[in-house]
Parts: sequence; C-alpha cells; structure tokens
Amino acid sequence: MSVEIKTIDTLLEERRTFPPTAEFQRRARVTDDSLYRAAEADPEGFWAEQARRYISWYKPFDRVLEWNLPFATWFGGGRMNVSYNCLDRHVEAGRGDKVAYHWEAEPLGETRTITYRDLLDEVCRFANALRALGVKKGDRVGIYMPMIPELPVAMLACARIGAPHSVVFGGFSAEAVRDRMNDAEAVLLITADEGWRRGNAVPLKRNVDEAVERAPSIRNVVVVRRTGNEVPMRERRDLWYHDVIHDQPTTCEPEQMESEDLLFTLYTSGTTAKPKGIKHTTAGYHLYTMFTHDYVFDIQPDTVYWCAADIGWVTGHSYIVYGPLGNGVTSVMYEGTPDYPNKDRWWSIIAKHGVTVLYCAPTAIRTFMKWGPEHPAQHDLSSLRLLGTVGEPINPEAWIWYREHIGGNRTPVVDTWWQTETGGIMIAPLPGVTTLKPGSATKPLPGISAAVVDEQGQIIKVGGGYAALLKPWPGMLRGIWGDDERYKQTYWARFGDKYFAGDGARIDDDGDFWFMGRVDDVMNVAGHRISTTEVESALVDHPAVAEAAVVAKSDAETGQAISAFVTLRGGYDESTELIVELRGHVAKLIGPIARPKWIAFTPDLPKTRSGKIMRRLLRDIAENRQLGDTTTLADAGIVADLQRRSQEEQDKEA
Ligand code: PRX
Repeated sequence: MSVEIKTIDTLLEERRTFPPTAEFQRRARVTDDSLYRAAEADPEGFWAEQARRYISWYKPFDRVLEWNLPFATWFGGGRMNVSYNCLDRHVEAGRGDKVAYHWEAEPLGETRTITYRDLLDEVCRFANALRALGVKKGDRVGIYMPMIPELPVAMLACARIGAPHSVVFGGFSAEAVRDRMNDAEAVLLITADEGWRRGNAVPLKRNVDEAVERAPSIRNVVVVRRTGNEVPMRERRDLWYHDVIHDQPTTCEPEQMESEDLLFTLYTSGTTAKPKGIKHTTAGYHLYTMFTHDYVFDIQPDTVYWCAADIGWVTGHSYIVYGPLGNGVTSVMYEGTPDYPNKDRWWSIIAKHGVTVLYCAPTAIRTFMKWGPEHPAQHDLSSLRLLGTVGEPINPEAWIWYREHIGGNRTPVVDTWWQTETGGIMIAPLPGVTTLKPGSATKPLPGISAAVVDEQGQIIKVGGGYAALLKPWPGMLRGIWGDDERYKQTYWARFGDKYFAGDGARIDDDGDFWFMGRVDDVMNVAGHRISTTEVESALVDHPAVAEAAVVAKSDAETGQAISAFVTLRGGYDESTELIVELRGHVAKLIGPIARPKWIAFTPDLPKTRSGKIMRRLLRDIAENRQLGDTTTLADAGIVADLQRRSQEEQDKEA
C-alpha cells in the first residue's frame, strides 16, 4: 500500500472536521471553553491555581513568574520533590496498590506488574544506593538504558536525591554517550548489560565501556542485568544494580528541591554539530507535564494509558514518567519493537491490558498502514477511547486510518505539537472541546499563547509563516547547559520577545495551526530530530570523505529520510561498498537513526560563488524536483551531473 500525502491546500478545501461526539463528551473532563477563558483572563493566577492543585509542596511558592527575557523563574520560593509527587503522595493517599506500570518485555510472556508502592520501594532503595556511592544533590548522573522498569526507577531515584539526570537514548552510539557525559561532567552512569531489540541484543555496556574510557568525570558505572549475557565489568568502577540496592532500606528521605533546581538535561540536535543540553527544572516542568497529560488525554480514574515512545526522548520523559506518575495513572510500558515477534504485537498488548489511551508517532502509524489493517483487526481494541500523535506532522490519510482502524471510527485523535524545549504539549486539542481536523494540531492549550509570524515577527492572522510562542510557560526550557549565549541566539535572536520554534506553520481562519516541518537545518526522521550538520561532520570524519552535504528527502514512512551528497578524497574510488561503509560510519558515530538512506557521490557540491553550499538545490535534486534559481551557482555543470547520479542511486534502491 502506498501512502499518499495530500497537500494542506487540498485539505483546507475539503474541510473534513470531527466535532467531539456526545458519547465522548458524556465522560469527558472538560466540554466547554472555561479553562481557556480562565487562563486568558489571568494567566499567572491560572498557573498559580494549577500549581496548588497539581503539586504537593513542602513550602508554598511566594512568586508565580519572574520574566527576565529570555530567562524565566516559575514558582519562586517554593520547595517540592518530583519523586515525592510521583510516588509517595499516591501511596500515602491509599493508592499504593494501584498499578503504575504494566511492563511488557520484548520476549513474549515476560511481564512485570509494578504498583505505586513497588515503585516507591525500589526508587528509595536505588536512591539510597546512589547516595552511598557519593552522589550528591546537584551532581549529574547519566542514564543509558533499554525500556525496562529500572529506567524510570533510575530517573526517579535521581530526582529524589536532587541529582539531575541526563538520559541518552539507548539507540545512540558510544561516541554520543561520551560527548553528553563530558558536556554534563556526569559523575556516574547507569546502564544495562544489554537491551533487546527485535530479538537482538544491543550491546549497551560495551558501548558504555568505550564511552567512559574518555569520560574522566565518571567515577562509577551501575549495570542492570537485563539479558544476562556476560559483559566485562571493570573492578571498582563497575557495579551491579542488584548488588548496590541489595542491603538498602525501602525508605529514603527526599531532598527538598527549590522550584528552579535543575531536574534534568536532555540533549537534542540543533543546527550545529554539537547537540544542546536542554535544561528543565523542577516545579514548572512537573506541573506542566501533569497538567497537559491530564487534560489532553482526558485522564480518568480507570484510564489505562500507553505512550509508545522511548523514554530516551522527551516524549518518554514527560509522558511515560513525569506526567502519568504525577497524575497517579496506570500505564503500559513496552520494551521492544512493534513487529516482534509479529506485526500485531501492539494490538495484542492493547487488548491484553484494556488500554484506553494510546499515544504514538505518525511514522509508526504509516508503518502500520503499510503492514495492513488485518493486524489490528485480529484484536479487540474496543477499550480505546482516545488516540494521540506526536513528533512530526501527521498526514491526513494516516490520521483517518488511525481513527478508523485503531480507534474503531469512534475515538478522537489528538495531534500534539511540542518540542524537547517546551517540556510538554503546547498546541493540541482538548478532546471533549475541540473540533478536530485531520492534519492540524488545532489550537494552543489553555494558558499557552502562540502565533504564526512572518519574517519580521509580525503576527499573521491567516496564512503561512513561522511558529512562535508569545509568553513564557511553566514547562519551558530554562536554557542550554553551559551555553546561555546559544540559548539566546537559537530561540530569541530572531524575533526578540517571541520564542522561535524552528517550525514552519500555517494558521487557518478558525485559528487552527497546521505544522509544516522544520525551517532550519534540522531533519525529522521517524519523529527524531537530527541535524544535517551533525550527519555531515560524521561523514567527513571518514578518511575517504573530502566534503559532504546532507538534506532531508520526504519519505512515505519516516516522514523525512537522510540524503547525503559526498565528495571523495583523491585515491578513493566510488563503490557500493563505500556507501555501505559510510552509512555504517554515521551509525557508529551518532546512532543507527542517523544512518543516511541515500548517498550519492559527486566530484563537487553545488556552491555559490562565495563558497556556500546550496542546500536548496540539493533538496530539489533529492526530491527529483525542477531546480529552483541556479543563477548564483559557481559552476552550473555540477547539478546536471548530480541529478543523474542521485536518480541512479534511487533507482538502485528501488
Ligand atoms: O518540527 C516539530 C516536530 O518535532 C520537533 C520537536 O522535536 P523533539 O524536540 O525531538 O520533540 C519531539 C516530541 C515532542 C518540532 O519542532 N513536531 C513535534 N510534534 C509535532 C511536530 N510537527 C508537527 N506536528 C506535531 N504534532
């Protein structure tokens, strides 16, 4: 089945809309615009009220917002602990037996049911162990783990003792781990022997060994036994998780954290080769994840919620760990891939646990479309009452397919736009209130002020431009680790008093947002952000490569795919083997998700007379489009040759 992507203009013409159904509204938490109105009338008062409702404070805050553009302080004077808010207070309220996670391993038949009390006990034991290893409040801790329950345990243990964590996605390379540990000067790294992925063991501990060799700040590595296969353990430096928690008690006094103490950093790709450590702090972030999770997913006491992201990305931080646990919700957590052992794995999990809310990425939906509706059709999915998407624009066909084949033509689909930097969902429907339009993330949430602006930062009422955020919000990033200047330059230099999101967007005459993808040198591959320059520097790191230019090419399954143009050094010959090697080299330096799908060799790259690579032309070539303006090209002969080569490469692949 091929997936056709309709243009937004066709969609705007078609105007297919889905108002909330009476059946959904009957149980919905909100069905009118009261929240929007309250937030609009008094934004700070609104957030103060939410902060009192959602957070259990050790000491109440005495200020709501201090805004020193672009630096925000939320809930100043307040003290709280995020792990207390995720665990202890639910247990203290008598909900200790409620399931926090139904964990499904990738190998069939292996499951764990973890209640809030179980989770609290385990977090306390590990928090004590970390303290015993000398980890203090303010120390940074690295986490590089598969999707196993010890991953949220590790994060919450860090939060409990006030040690900011820095989770590195388990699919990233040793080099990526090392760079992030060095940037954060982390003192300890938590990992597993290996992880399971599509039946194969991923060598996490071995990657860590390679990483830590040149990460001098790491004193200890704590290793969770997952696959049980043998891995090398360095005496004194490396410790088994089960050993360090063995004698620890199941109580541990949480650190009383200031509202603005750092909770974590999470690295994300920007427009340079060096990823940025996005900083999120304690109270504002936690409030914002709970608030948005609660309302966007219409959380009910009997909700069984499943966010199918990986915790290594911000979606998992906010909507597998901090939001759902803060709200005391029962979640499903799954370790593996959707096609292991069969292509119906997700649907069997939904039927087994009676999942009511599913949150996943459009790229997954397009893959399911390709696999065919017969896989979900084998299972009873009638427990589902709400579906969500995140990570990239969703094409309307995929939206409709998702609602029809997964949601039984019944459920709302909430398309949620946000970023690592925003901490939580910014633009999305409230499912009991908003009229849905396939392909549109609809409107800013209550308390959020967003607009589409032109090149000068002027607000556009109807039409296309750049997505911008107009007011600070509690979940916003507090900066980039160690680089305030880059923070100002990246997000605030463009429009001054408005946050520049890096996304193109259109706004229609109902005020609904249609996101169009990145406008900077950042690609979005299967919902993952990858910078073109990062991939370019990985390519030129290879001895055969003299120069490389990378652009995104649209792809029916992954949204965008990485397309590279490579000039070789003298003495190296173009060959299919070299293409394979270069792909592998990028995967080794960054991780498999950054592996270019297309590589075309070229004796030269198209450049302007001043030597700037003309990416716009490369994008046209990659997409097999008519070339745009070529008058500024230094050497016009190059592009015809490139077009031919790029076409040949694509024919070969097809
Ligand atoms: O381009 C937007 C796209 O993903 C980017 C943020 O990526 P990241 O920080 O990795 O976070 C992903 C998960 C929140 C955005 O700048 N994006 C995210 N959600 C959507 C989206 N594009 C269109 N529609 C969405 N719903």
